Amino acid sequence: MPIIDATSPARMSMYNANRLKVGLFGANCSSDRAVTLVPERWSGTWKDTLALARMAEDAGIDFMLPIGRWKGYGGETDYQGETLETVTWATALLALTKKMTVFGTVHAPLFNPVIAAKEFVTADHVGEGRFGLNLVVGWNEDEFQMFGVRQRDHEARYAFGQEWLDAVKMIWSEQGDFDIDGEFIKLKGVRAKPKPYGGSRPLIMNAGESPTGRAFAIRNCDAFFTRPSRTSLEETAERIRMVKAEARSHGREISVYTVGVVTCRSTKKEAEEYYRHCVVEQADWSAVDGILVKKNISPETVGEAEHQKQRVFYAQGMGGYPIIGDADHVAKELADLSAAGLDGIGISFVNYLDELPFFRDEVLARLADAGIRDKY
Ligand SMILES: Cc1cc2nc3c(=O)[nH]c(=O)nc-3n(C[C@H](O)[C@H](O)[C@H](O)COP(=O)(O)O)c2cc1C
Repeated sequence: MPIIDATSPARMSMYNANRLKVGLFGANCSSDRAVTLVPERWSGTWKDTLALARMAEDAGIDFMLPIGRWKGYGGETDYQGETLETVTWATALLALTKKMTVFGTVHAPLFNPVIAAKEFVTADHVGEGRFGLNLVVGWNEDEFQMFGVRQRDHEARYAFGQEWLDAVKMIWSEQGDFDIDGEFIKLKGVRAKPKPYGGSRPLIMNAGESPTGRAFAIRNCDAFFTRPSRTSLEETAERIRMVKAEARSHGREISVYTVGVVTCRSTKKEAEEYYRHCVVEQADWSAVDGILVKKNISPETVGEAEHQKQRVFYAQGMGGYPIIGDADHVAKELADLSAAGLDGIGISFVNYLDELPFFRDEVLARLADAGIRDKY
C-alpha cells in the first residue's frame, strides 16, 4: 500500500506555527459540554454554529471538533438531545471556511468503511485538505441498540477499529481494485476515486483512555486527546512525554491534545460566580445521573465517595479540564499546558458565541504576546 501521510502543507491549521493549537469542542450538540439548566446554554443549531465558525476563523481558532452523539442523555434539558451529524456538519463548515481544520467524529462500528472513506474524501475535497477524522469505537450501549448494532467487548472494539481504519486507509490510497478478507471486514473488488485532497490523507485522532485505546492511538493516529492530570502539571508533562516517546519507539510522531472547559471573565470573582451558578447550582443533575448510569458508575459499583466525586466531575464539563478565572489566569493555565508539552486544546464554553469574543480579545491576545500563538 503506498504510504501517504497527513503532514502535507495543505493540512494547514494543524501544522501551523501556533505552539498551542486552540480548537472548539462540542459545538454540534445542544448544551455542548455544560450539563446545565441556564437558559443561555448552547443551542447547537446550524445558524449559531455557522456564526460561530466564522467568528472562530477570524479569531485564528485552529480547529472545530464535534462530539459523535446519537441520542440525548435525558434529564431536565435532555442533555445533548439535539445533535448535528458530524461528517455532514464538517463538510458544510469546510465549504464555508478557509483555514481551520474541521473534524468528523465517527463511530467505526456504525459506518460501512467504503461509505465512510468516500464521505471523508468528499469533505476533504470540499475543505481542500482541512478535514480531520476523530475515530471512536463507542462505549454507549444504548446508542448502539438504536442502530441494531451489537457493542463488542472492549478489546474486540479496538481490534475491529484497527481493521476498519486499515480498510479506510487502503480505500484512500490503493489505485487498483482490491479485496479485504479480515476477521470483521470483508470487501470485494473495492474501487474508490478520487483519493483525499492533494496526495496526502486527513489527519486522524483518537481519544481512548484505556491502555488498549492509547496503544491504538499511538499505532495509528496523528493526534491523541487525553485528559490532563488534575493533580499536577508535572504529572501531565510526564504523561505527554510517555505518549510521544512510545510513538517514537514505533517510528511515529504523535501530537497530544486535551479538552478544557473555560469560564473566563474580567475578574476571578465574576468567573468563579458564573461557574458556580452554571455547573453547581444550575447543573442538570438528573442528566448527570443518567450519564453515570450509562457509564455504570453508581455507589454500588464504585462506592459512595467516588460516586459523588464522579457526579461533580461530569457536571463540570463532562470531565474536561476546568479553567476558571480572569484573562491573566486563563492565559497562564494555557501557557503552562503548552510548556508541559501539549500541542493543543479543544475548549468549550457555556455559550460559544457569547464568550468567544472576550476569550479572543483577552486570552488569545495574551498567548500571542507570549509567543505561543500567532496574532490573529
Ligand atoms: C476529547 C474526547 C473526545 C471524545 N469524543 C467522543 C465522541 O464524540 N463520541 C464518543 O462516543 N466517545 C467519545 N470519546 C470517548 C472516547 O472515544 C473513548 O471511548 C473513551 O475515552 C474511553 O476510552 P477507551 O475506549 O480506551 O476505554 C471522547 C473522549 C475524549 C477524551
